[in-house]
Amino acid sequence: MKKQISASIMCTPNLMNLEHDIKKLESLGIDMLHLDAMDGHFVNNITFGPDILNAIHRTTKMPCDYHLMVENPLMFIERLELSEGDIVTMHAEIQQKNFDDAFEYLVSLKKRGVGIGIAVNPETSIERFSDYILSHTDMILVMLINPGFAGQPIIRGILNKPLYIRNYLDSIGYKDIVVSVDGGVSVERAKKLSKDGVDVFVGGTSGLFRKDMPLEKSVEQLRNAIKINE
Ligand code: DX5
Ligand code: ZN
Repeated sequence: MKKQISASIMCTPNLMNLEHDIKKLESLGIDMLHLDAMDGHFVNNITFGPDILNAIHRTTKMPCDYHLMVENPLMFIERLELSEGDIVTMHAEIQQKNFDDAFEYLVSLKKRGVGIGIAVNPETSIERFSDYILSHTDMILVMLINPGFAGQPIIRGILNKPLYIRNYLDSIGYKDIVVSVDGGVSVERAKKLSKDGVDVFVGGTSGLFRKDMPLEKSVEQLRNAIKINE
């Protein structure tokens, strides 16, 4: 798989300029838009609800990578306008019934080409998922921070986890599940993580929307960092 950059829209410098910034990301060849939805319950922050997410979806041809940091993902997913190539990720840590209900709904959307992602917080282990869940999962989103806010320091020791997960998935026959990383993905870390088998890199304030350089430059740097024999 081609290594991909998923731009974290909540990290754009001025949310009033969303449409302009999305077009710019598109022109710079960004692969996906990472859309962080938060409900003020699963995490202590609130970002975008379904109406804004749908408005964003309509302004772009880029696939949307929905990261649902919400306790009841089904309520969101049912209202999302999803297209082929989009991926919807929910958290492993929510209540089991909420997880199962949303997962079943997502399984029913797979025939429309919508991918299923599962996000794991730093303390959550990969071994907890059943074969049934993994057999329908397209992506594991490995959180390098506790979710909720941009610009946080990464969790100590967490940089070993993506490789561990990659090896674990390969060893039990799930080579096709993509590993993605989110939170504190700087150019330097992306370089290491790409060698470790990570395929999708969420570009936030650390790797993409940086105060010290223009977007054109940070895109180029991040892209060069994740490239391996492409
Ligand atoms: C935070 C979000 C991330 C975040 C990553 O909970 O999931 O998408 O914006 O960006 P930085 O690089 O700021 O950690
Ligand atoms: Zn995210």
